[in-house]
Amino acid sequence: MSQNPPDQTSPELWAAVDAYMSAALPDSDPALAAVQAANAAAGLPSIDVAPNQGKLLHILARLIGARRILEIGTLGGYSAIWLARALPPGGKLVSLEFQPRHAEIAQQNLETAGVGDLVEIRVGPALETLPKLEGHEAFDFVFIDADKESNAAYLDWAIRLTRPGGLVVCDNVVRRGGVIDPDHPNTATQGTRRFFEALAKEKRLTATGLQTVGVKGWDGLVIGIVEA
Ligand SMILES: C[S@@+](CC[C@H](N)C(=O)[O-])C[C@H]1O[C@@H](n2cnc3c(N)ncnc32)[C@H](O)[C@@H]1O
Repeated sequence: MSQNPPDQTSPELWAAVDAYMSAALPDSDPALAAVQAANAAAGLPSIDVAPNQGKLLHILARLIGARRILEIGTLGGYSAIWLARALPPGGKLVSLEFQPRHAEIAQQNLETAGVGDLVEIRVGPALETLPKLEGHEAFDFVFIDADKESNAAYLDWAIRLTRPGGLVVCDNVVRRGGVIDPDHPNTATQGTRRFFEALAKEKRLTATGLQTVGVKGWDGLVIGIVEA
């Protein structure tokens, strides 16, 4: 340890540690790197999960033997590829996306990555596409990562559509600490606060929140298991 330890609040240091760990425990490969490059070339915002978070989703899905996965918020398909790669033969990922252009780019990326046949992208506002999933086989895993304003409603749908023992993961729940400010002006942050209020009353899910720092800055995840 050097005599002057680096500033622990430095985003550059968080990113450097992510880079160090990703080099030690590869969190990417040419197909995933190509997707990130294709998304950047298409002008998509860089709001997909970090490589190590994509790998965490993949590990969680494999851990519970997920056969049916639901994602709310596809963007260019980066997290979808990590999740689809966790599926066994015959498994399926349904990913919901509002923007037709994002869905189109994601479809191309999924096919390039060799998982196109495992993923169905449904285009439209998720609050309209979610009810259409009712009455089908339950999901094992739901990843919520779309418009944060609707997260409380997505939480309810995720629990309704998931089997007991299944997992619900929600991204971006810390928002650089903004989540603790009741008067925060950002609607996404207010949506995240409503998500936590709903979660606090929720008996159908046992959940915890984790802060994260890294290449995507300071944020966090909620991970919960659906009760019987
Ligand atoms: C954070 S990005 C998803 C990133 C992706 N999960 C990943 O990590 O690769 C959020 C996506 O949700 C989409 N979205 C926003 N509002 C939506 C809505 N009402 N219904 C469905 N998708 C929505 C956005 O167009 C955007 O593509």
